[in-house]
Amino acid sequence: MSAAETFCRTKVDTFIETHGAAPSALIQVLQDVQEEYRYLPADALVYVSERLRVPLAQTYNVATFYNAFSLNPIGKRHISVCMGTACHVRGSSMILDNLSTRLNLKPGETSADGEYTLDTVNCLGACSLAPVVVINDAVHGKTSSGKAKKLLEKSAKKKSAGDKPS
Ligand code: FES
Repeated sequence: MSAAETFCRTKVDTFIETHGAAPSALIQVLQDVQEEYRYLPADALVYVSERLRVPLAQTYNVATFYNAFSLNPIGKRHISVCMGTACHVRGSSMILDNLSTRLNLKPGETSADGEYTLDTVNCLGACSLAPVVVINDAVHGKTSSGKAKKLLEKSAKKKSAGDKPS
């Protein structure tokens, strides 16, 4: 990584070698970049565009179209509260408010220490489990403010024990 870059060219080159330096590899390469950095650094988008010979506008369109991609840094614990209709009527707004107060974050924000990102999503397709909260890849159904608080505490304990966050 050069002083001005926010990503490692060698690492991204590895992703490109794995999937092929062709426009058809764009999504797979972006997925690897997202996984590595937990977001898509702007300069990495430019680099990937050049290497795959894809117009930057097209790369940007892909990066902004899929929810799996983020143009902003994502915390180690990415908390998403479902605000779809089923979850909303079962109290997800209150859960979101409580998490927002507890973490001192508004939806879409990441804590300064890079630990937490609070987000909202629309229906996750698990309405029978409403209200739903997702922490990283773990789906927690029939959540309440109390349950969300316990999930955060459990996550914080894992953090202090050095475990992988969930
Ligand atoms: S509305 Fe939340 S999972 Fe469908």
